[in-house]
Amino acid sequence: MNMIRTFLITAVVGLLGISAAAASSGGAHKPDKRDWHFSGPFGTYDKDALQRGYQVYETLCSSCHGLEQVSFRNLGQKGGPFHLDSCPAGIPDTVDCANPNQNPVVKALAAQYRFKIVDGPDESGDMYERAALPSDRIPGPFANEVIARLANNNALPPDLSLITKARHYGPDYVYSLLIGYEETPATVDIDAGQYFNPYFSGDMSQALRPEFLDEHGHPLEGVEVPVGGVLAMAPPLFDGMIEYADGSPATVEQYAADVTEFLMWAADPKMEARKSLGVMSLIYLIILAGLLYWSYRKVWSDQH
Ligand code: HEC
Repeated sequence: MNMIRTFLITAVVGLLGISAAAASSGGAHKPDKRDWHFSGPFGTYDKDALQRGYQVYETLCSSCHGLEQVSFRNLGQKGGPFHLDSCPAGIPDTVDCANPNQNPVVKALAAQYRFKIVDGPDESGDMYERAALPSDRIPGPFANEVIARLANNNALPPDLSLITKARHYGPDYVYSLLIGYEETPATVDIDAGQYFNPYFSGDMSQALRPEFLDEHGHPLEGVEVPVGGVLAMAPPLFDGMIEYADGSPATVEQYAADVTEFLMWAADPKMEARKSLGVMSLIYLIILAGLLYWSYRKVWSDQH
């Protein structure tokens, strides 16, 4: 009895604690649930979207964010954005384009990448820069965290390799954050280099202007604390920034959807294989259940 009471009290205290924390943090808008190509048990990545997403990452996001867990060769693996089943015309027979290390698109993307690989030391002990190879990790923009922070108002742009797994609501959150920037609400003051976003979690009650506070520092009656937070990333996307070769719309929504799908692939490249294994297992179990039922009927058919 005593134990049950202790348990109940702990549970109630715990729940109160959680709701108090939620109320004081101010929170963030819940991201809208999107219908992605990869949603649901049969969903797969859309190769064109992955290619466009890579283009958005490379052109825009890579100025500040690394993608350290991804090697160029991964881009050419089965299910990856630039995988080839067979070689395009004009490539000699000796090349195996299905092999990511020989894939000519991947080789070109690595060789022309905007950042070089720091390699070495050479025979005189110096480090040197060279163009990337398919086997290299995709190089990030900053040599170290100090330089990254100096360039970003003291904030650290996170590596994006696993970001869709590392945030609550995953891809829906990343998409909403990218398209969700809003004008700073009139009731708050925010520092230069900070940007308001309703999907970023924060506590805007701390930023309310003095004229909206009572003498205890609480919001005046009727003053609403804006939901959301401020972050050190300026809105990175604007209509028309990138021209897509396939004629897809040059809009913020399209860029955000494509780059998010690409980042989802980067964080979970094995999703398709996992799903098809799941479906195969299900079919196997259904057949097995059928067989068992049939043999059960057979074995017991002459028992009255
Ligand atoms: C000019 C530099 C810059 C560019 C360009 C940029 N970002 Fe950021 N980003 C940042 C910084 C700085 C932060 C950290 C913000 C903070 O914590 O206050 C950040 C944070 C993020 C976060 C994490 C938000 C969170 O929940 O913590 C995501 C996701 C993100 N960026 C995605 C992108 C994508 C996708 C692109 C390309 C479309 C992009 N960023 C382009 C600087 C940049």
